[in-house]
Amino acid sequence: MDVPAVVALRAGGVGVVVDLTGEVPKVLHWGRDLGELSTAGLEALAFTAIPATLNNAVDVPPTFSLWANESQGWLGTPAHEGHLEGRATASHPRLAGAEQSRGPDGSAELMVRLCDDVSDVDILVTYRLDPTGILAVDTEMTRRSATLLKSDLRYHLAGVSTMLPLPRRATEILDFTGKWCRERAPQRRPVTFGSYVREVRRGKPGHDSPYLLTVGTSGFGFREGEAWAVHVGWSGNQRYLAEQLPEGAGGTHAVVLGAGELLRPGEVSLEAGQTYAAPTCYFAWSDRGLDGLSDRFHELLRARGTHPKTPRPLVLNTWEAVYFDHDLDRLLGLAEKAAEVGVERLVLDDGWFRGRRDDTAGLGDWYVDAKVWPHGLSPLADRVHELGMQFGLWVEPEMINLDSQLAREHPEWILGPSGGLGPPQRHQYVLNIANEQAWAYLLERLDTLVGEYSIDYLKWDHNRDLHEAVCRGADGLDRPGVRAQTLALYRLLDALRERHPALEIESCAGGGGRIDLGILARTDRVWPSDCNDPLERQLIQRWTGQLVPPELVATHVSAAAQAHTTHRHAAQSFRLITALFGHAGIEADLTRSSAQELEIFTTWAALYRELRPLLHQGRVVRADLVGEATVLHGVVSPDRTAALFCWARLATSSEGQAGQVIFPGLASDRDYRVRIRGEVGHPSMFQVAPPPWVSRAFEGWVPVPGAVLRLAGLAMPTLNPEQAMLLEIRAA
Ligand code: DGJ
Repeated sequence: MDVPAVVALRAGGVGVVVDLTGEVPKVLHWGRDLGELSTAGLEALAFTAIPATLNNAVDVPPTFSLWANESQGWLGTPAHEGHLEGRATASHPRLAGAEQSRGPDGSAELMVRLCDDVSDVDILVTYRLDPTGILAVDTEMTRRSATLLKSDLRYHLAGVSTMLPLPRRATEILDFTGKWCRERAPQRRPVTFGSYVREVRRGKPGHDSPYLLTVGTSGFGFREGEAWAVHVGWSGNQRYLAEQLPEGAGGTHAVVLGAGELLRPGEVSLEAGQTYAAPTCYFAWSDRGLDGLSDRFHELLRARGTHPKTPRPLVLNTWEAVYFDHDLDRLLGLAEKAAEVGVERLVLDDGWFRGRRDDTAGLGDWYVDAKVWPHGLSPLADRVHELGMQFGLWVEPEMINLDSQLAREHPEWILGPSGGLGPPQRHQYVLNIANEQAWAYLLERLDTLVGEYSIDYLKWDHNRDLHEAVCRGADGLDRPGVRAQTLALYRLLDALRERHPALEIESCAGGGGRIDLGILARTDRVWPSDCNDPLERQLIQRWTGQLVPPELVATHVSAAAQAHTTHRHAAQSFRLITALFGHAGIEADLTRSSAQELEIFTTWAALYRELRPLLHQGRVVRADLVGEATVLHGVVSPDRTAALFCWARLATSSEGQAGQVIFPGLASDRDYRVRIRGEVGHPSMFQVAPPPWVSRAFEGWVPVPGAVLRLAGLAMPTLNPEQAMLLEIRAA
């Protein structure tokens, strides 16, 4: 396709306008689709394209190009840095060509080729604006081979940052932090001058992953405000940034939003002809607040060819039920009870392999422990299948305990400095899976296990950070290993899935330590947290959902009223309603449950099966409420004729009444009916007299106009703290 001087990519209500007239292209606009732009319109935008000859005038905004660097007068973070063994530290990229195309799915694509005669590299940047409005940016950098003078020098790449400019009205930053059992804690701050940089050096995104760095207009919320966000689809080290220089970011732009892989010195050095492919960076824009962003990411994930198409089976995971106490009779009893209550997939967690009686030994020895399982896993796996359930197994392939046969036989396979290993975490170290033999060993073990026991599902764990992640080279010298480790992991998952196309895999990392679009390209579910306390889960699930749709987020009911990880007690209905809004599961030892508890689990399982088509295909909506004591979140069918909401009170507040609450996502010009699903228990109320519709809605449908729900707000009951109510809404 012929490429005009100014290219407008348009899809999903988003527009990206790129000016190709200068030495290096510039993004003139990323945000709302501006429609077909006339020449006058393009010229009006192109106000930001300052001729290079003016760049040295002090009162002229600097150029912020698609590949920003100092040669263009840009003194913020450069698009890439590196050197040819101490030389060619500057860079001077120039446009070498561009191609525009449109994909069969309606995506709009622009490929830009840059050549950099100073760094002696060629750069290929691909912008793909998906029908969901997500802009996926891929970058490849190739060390040239056709240059005679310097071709023996390697190009040492310090890093690539994929960046886009934002307008001055983007003034507030939202990103995430967290820890084990408290993942995805949001944090907000104003955009100030300087660089706000989040670096991840854990060898995985981590429990404190920035996750989705978002910059929005003042006070942007779930439903309101304009917001721009970036996510790196990568499961290794990474870097996010929001940056503001006093001189702005090119013309009317003020702020730079960017991300990329964090490389350790020496991690990528390109020989002539070699290419570095940066992880895909996903940029999303919304003028409907955070829900607008999550909508786009959910649509993007749901459009994947690999997105699960079967109803998400109700899971029973044995971890909180039995921990390391693997006893066949007890587990068979558990399987029977699970089938009775309606469980559809039973997952045998940690503790089944050689020497694994606790968390100090065994990792690496992926053979069934004959002392605990004298007849292998077949007696359990077969029974689970006979009972009509799928069989799942926990593995942690990338890890190794020093107390294991594998570590004794292959100490050289452990990732770490040749000078001696640093401290363990959870008694374990990391296996260097970039080592071909170690990788082949894992593939053989996993392939055999999956085949032998007809395993339907793997819970793939990763419980430690990668400290001193260096590979021992044949020359005895250590080299940084996170990138190689991450790519080897992807290859391993791909190879296993190729051999077992029906196998589903969950990404777990001591809870939610590895949730990103790189791992999600190869897995079918994420475990968001080891914390099953519903109070914590309300928030962890709310924010995990910022990127990942509910059908991919594991939401399990804890083993007991007292949460194992917080020791807080929770009401049964609060636990069950909270665990409904995702891919539901149970962690309890049902052999110890009372008849009444089994009955309520059975009722809940039926409710999950009834509601999952809506829960797993609807659009996620979250209300903007005053204060943090209450939450209202739900899913609404795409045609807005059905919805399910959770109204929960997390804490007390000084306010006497919950008041009128607007239900997001519904149509104001429709008539609806509302009922409260009380099958798994009624919430306890703070009010003696809740709004009159409430008691009727416990009995059956109550008509409520969409205008009341959507515009005025429905009068909501004031619940006691740590209580939840399940509301079903249907078009009348
Ligand atoms: C950490 C996981 O997050 C838990 O669910 C459990 O699988 C344990 N590891 C097992 O060691």
